[in-house]
Amino acid sequence: MSLQRRTLIAGNWKMNGSLASNASLLENLLAAPEIAVSGSTCEVLVCVPAVYLPQCESLLKSSAIALGAQDISAHQSGAYTGEVASAMLADFSCQYVIVGHSERRAYHHESNELVAQKALQALRSSIFPIVCVGETLEQREAGRTNEVVVTQLRAVMDVLDDGALARIVVAYEPVWAIGTGKTATPEMAQEVHAVLRSVLAERSGFAANKVRILYGGSMKPDNAKELLAMPDIDGGLIGGASLKAADFLAIIGAV
Ligand code: 13P
Repeated sequence: MSLQRRTLIAGNWKMNGSLASNASLLENLLAAPEIAVSGSTCEVLVCVPAVYLPQCESLLKSSAIALGAQDISAHQSGAYTGEVASAMLADFSCQYVIVGHSERRAYHHESNELVAQKALQALRSSIFPIVCVGETLEQREAGRTNEVVVTQLRAVMDVLDDGALARIVVAYEPVWAIGTGKTATPEMAQEVHAVLRSVLAERSGFAANKVRILYGGSMKPDNAKELLAMPDIDGGLIGGASLKAADFLAIIGAV
């Protein structure tokens, strides 16, 4: 965590929720003292399924919790059945969108180049893309972690100018730690975060200082504090624990 970068605690609800459960989760969060005081320590965000954006926009209006989405189209508009454009997200006050989550890379065969186009589209609608990078267990065991995450990040950097680069968020999510209960140790995560920041710094010192690099992968109340204490870990992208108000609030409290 660094003084010049505001910590970002982001929930990724993935394909979970209903009108009733979303309302109950957000009401519990909004009533909590951790959220009331969060403004002084961190930024809180929930990335919800696209169909629930109107509901969540209305529940979160003028609150301390920002709204985000989980994916967008790489195209601006047109004949792309089933896709959601960045301008549509902007219509619902979305401030952030996740791009390149490993579940999309794995199940929808999203390439680094496609993820880069999605990041670009988000920025065109003034939405901050949260660019996910991360290695599989096989890649880690083969000693390829840095090469994999750097290639993923560079593909996005290649399509952005320095000004745009400073406006992205990066999330390091080791694939083997997602939803498994296995977490990278703070030292393991810090090592990768430092590599990612050094790659940003090769292009722009300003962007390297500005861009927040979140850790994701089984971040929970009991490990959040030590992860967030590392100098290059600027927040968390939280899956499972963001669906339980008490757990999400405990992570916010750990900041
Ligand atoms: P978990 O916190 O459930 O491991 O999920 C992490 C993640 O994929 C966030 O995007």
